[in-house]
Amino acid sequence: MATYPEHRLRRLRKNTAIRKLVRETSLSVNDFIYPIFVTHGKNVRDSIESMPGINRLSIDTVSAEVQEAHSLGIQAVLLFGIPEKKDALGSDSFNSKGIIQSAIKAIRQHTPDILIITDVCMCEYTDHGHCGITENGLVNNDKTLETLGEISISHVKAGADIVAPSAMMDGQVGAIRSSLDKNGFVGTPIMAYSAKYASGFYGPFRDAAMSAPSFGDRETYQLDTANIRQALDEIRLDVAESADIIMIKPALAYLDVISAARDEFRLPIASYNVSGEYSMIKAASQNGWIDEKRITLEILTSIKRAGADMIITYYAKEAATWLKTNN
Ligand code: PBG
Repeated sequence: MATYPEHRLRRLRKNTAIRKLVRETSLSVNDFIYPIFVTHGKNVRDSIESMPGINRLSIDTVSAEVQEAHSLGIQAVLLFGIPEKKDALGSDSFNSKGIIQSAIKAIRQHTPDILIITDVCMCEYTDHGHCGITENGLVNNDKTLETLGEISISHVKAGADIVAPSAMMDGQVGAIRSSLDKNGFVGTPIMAYSAKYASGFYGPFRDAAMSAPSFGDRETYQLDTANIRQALDEIRLDVAESADIIMIKPALAYLDVISAARDEFRLPIASYNVSGEYSMIKAASQNGWIDEKRITLEILTSIKRAGADMIITYYAKEAATWLKTNN
């Protein structure tokens, strides 16, 4: 490449048209997955204090929310359930009449074409708040695998299109794949939360789902925030176990992991722009300190630029609206 003064990079920044022509990364509503919290009760739209704009919705109000998202062009939702009763085994998670199973049916009736992805985990359903079955204060990996398989089957039977295991148990993708296949669901993809870090950014989510662990923490199963080689090993194992989509979570503090995964793996990559990342922008913009629209679109673009194909974001509806008027 020639150097200055023959070569001048500003030539390609001269006006909007030329900048659009050379833009390397594009953001579209097709990239977004909208996470939704479903709760028990009737006619509930319960706002979550640490996540302005996001509500816990009961089964009768969730359909309208999904319909609105779909009408904005959003193709997929990710469902989390908050059951009426939590217990040691997280029984509501695999109950055919459980909160998520009922929500899937209601959504399917009103918005048949939306892609329904379900979070497969136990922490929202267990009274101790851990992501698996506990014994003597420890999460038992292999016992949890059986339950994760059961949960997945119950979601797919209710009508889920994709299951997304987020418990960070070893072997969870393989166990779920074989449970699904044995039950005839060979066509159901698994979106694996492959590289899920033990992150402080999940704080507002745990308020929302009331799923903070009642003892200990999640560091015996979620990744150490300082590690990237282990993250790539987690992804490699999930690929070997037939994951269809791999996920890196959270997004912003882990853009290097997204980029390294993009270089090494061919599967589609999802990235979860998590609750704490959402709340930080909301808080700063409500104080008038930052330009919410500009910063959100910049952040979402950066996640794509790092190598993600799709983004799970609480900003999905707002970003979809902004993108309609932006170009
Ligand atoms: C369930 C789960 C969590 C999130 C997604 N799935 C919470 C956790 O691991 O504590 C967090 C998502 C967010 O912060 O937006 N295991």
